[in-house]
Amino acid sequence: MMKTMIQERYGAIAQTGQGCCSPGCGLPGSEGEIVQIGQICDYTPEDLGSGSGSANLGLGCGNPVAMADLKPGEVVLDLGSGPGFDAFLAARAVGESGRVIGIDMTPEMIALARSNADRLGFSNVEFRPGEIENLPVEDDSVDVVLSNCVINLSTDKGAVYREIFRTLKPGGRICISDVLRSRELPEEILNDPAMHAG
Ligand SMILES: C[S@@+](CC[C@H](N)C(=O)[O-])C[C@H]1O[C@@H](n2cnc3c(N)ncnc32)[C@H](O)[C@@H]1O
Repeated sequence: MMKTMIQERYGAIAQTGQGCCSPGCGLPGSEGEIVQIGQICDYTPEDLGSGSGSANLGLGCGNPVAMADLKPGEVVLDLGSGPGFDAFLAARAVGESGRVIGIDMTPEMIALARSNADRLGFSNVEFRPGEIENLPVEDDSVDVVLSNCVINLSTDKGAVYREIFRTLKPGGRICISDVLRSRELPEEILNDPAMHAG
C-alpha cells in the first residue's frame, strides 16, 4: 500500500515535471522554488545551471555528491535516482573511465532519467528499474553508494542497508542525505501514506 502510494506520487511528478500536486503538499512547484531548494541543499550555481540542472526537480534534501569525494574511474550507485540529477553530477566526477548506476522503482522516473541521459549526452550512466530493498546489482561491485531523500521512504531500512553492504566493494563509501525523525510523530501523520510519500 505504502509502496504503491509512493510510486503513484513520484510517477505523477515524473510525468508532469512538477513537484507540487496540491497547495501545501510540501513539494516544490515552480522552477524558481526548485532552484531555491537546490541552493539550500548546497548545490553550486554550476551544478544547478549546467545541463544537468535541467534534471533537477527539487526532490532531494541535500547534496550527497558534494561529500562523496568522487574520483575518476569509480563506480557509483545512486539509490532512488529519480530524474537523474545526482547521477549526472556523479558521472561528470568519475569521468568516462567510471560508471554510474541509478536505481528507481517508479517506471516513469526511470523513463524520465533515461531520456535526460540521452538528451544530455551521458554514456557512462545507466538507470535500472528496481527496489532499493532488493538491488539489481552484483555483489562487491560498487565504490560509492549515494542516496538523496530516498531511504527515509523505505518501510524496510534494514534490508536497504544489508543490500548497500552486499553491493559495496571492501573499503567502499556511503554518502546519504536523508530525513531523520528527531521526535515521535502523531499517529495520524505516522499512518498517513500521503505524508509518508511527501
Ligand atoms: C524524493 S525522490 C528523490 C529523487 C532523487 N534522489 C533526487 O534527489 O532528485 C524519491 C525517489 O525514490 C524512488 N523510490 C522511493 N522508494 C523507493 C524504493 N523502495 N526503491 C526504489 N526507488 C524508490 C521514488 O520513485 C523517487 O523517484
